Amino acid sequence: MTAKRILSGMQPTNQLHLGNYLGALKNWVALQDQDYECLFCVVDLHAITMPYDRDKLAQATREIAAAYIAAGIDPAKCPIFPQSAVPAHSELMWLFATMTQMGKLERMTQFKDKAGKNKERAGLGLFSYPVLMAADILLYKATHVPVGEDQKQHLELTREIAATFNARYQAGFFPQTEPMILGEATRVMSLRDGTSKMSKSAESDMSRINLTDDADTIVRKIRKAKTDPAPLGETIESLQGRPEALNLVTIYAALAGVSRAEVLAQFGGQPFSVFKPALADLAVETLSPMTGRMTDLLSDPAEIDRILASGADKARALAEPVLRDVREIMGFWRG
Ligand code: AMP
Ligand code: TRP
Repeated sequence: MTAKRILSGMQPTNQLHLGNYLGALKNWVALQDQDYECLFCVVDLHAITMPYDRDKLAQATREIAAAYIAAGIDPAKCPIFPQSAVPAHSELMWLFATMTQMGKLERMTQFKDKAGKNKERAGLGLFSYPVLMAADILLYKATHVPVGEDQKQHLELTREIAATFNARYQAGFFPQTEPMILGEATRVMSLRDGTSKMSKSAESDMSRINLTDDADTIVRKIRKAKTDPAPLGETIESLQGRPEALNLVTIYAALAGVSRAEVLAQFGGQPFSVFKPALADLAVETLSPMTGRMTDLLSDPAEIDRILASGADKARALAEPVLRDVREIMGFWRG
């Protein structure tokens, strides 16, 4: 029986932000010390499903790897690798494409968001993005996938694809992967609008805290974060209808590793003029060392390349036997 195995990944597009850190990366770091075998991928094949800059892709891939390591992932324990360096991801995706209904892909909210109004002109790559994600996961028979809440629907599709394969070809071959949506901040919202997700692609840089922001920038963004005039309430319920206040409390809780109720026990009744500076201090204290480590790591790109190459070797060694089994189970010729 396969042990518990984790696979997760992030796209090398733009900068990572606080949502990526609190919704995913921070949890990965905690999980690597538990009873899981972990693999962390930089999903560069996913990154090219939207317009991108070819001159920056390789460097963006290094930057994501550096962020993983700076946040605390130990590459000696958990292989870190570029998705494109393991060709089996793409091949398994094609095989899975024959087990995926278009209607299901059409219902994916991330596709709808990214395709925008003109769905007819969206690329096949963007449309089939979740099938590639299922391949990323099932190629390693990963049993657990830690992600932010926005990926839940994609993981549901992964489970469906695994079930279709198992029903059509071989019972029990792929596991039913469990999503791990952990911590207080599974969906960090924009600092400018508490009803929309903090995202890499939002136009305003003031809407997010990037992992590369310096201390002054973090302080300024939190000071200017949208809020309402009322002081913080004493209970979570009192934050209903106050999405911006709830978001800042959630961020504080996740950064401090405490519950939102504990944050409100401390700050309930206080105005934002008290809470925001405390939050800014905490954010700087947590993120600055990480930013520093990232800068150090990026000053030696050859070392990051070695880490990625060695991660890719380890990933390939795990992936190839699974793909070989899949080909055989599906009935392909084998010389
Ligand atoms: P992406 O930036 O789309 O490659 O996402 C990488 C990881 O960060 C995924 O696990 C996402 O679910 C997570 N993530 C992205 N944005 C947020 C957010 N605003 N709040 C929480 N998690 C997020
Ligand atoms: N779709 C994920 C995102 O946008 C990134 C991703 C690709 C991923 N493949 C994955 C996450 C496999 C977890 C496991 O955030």
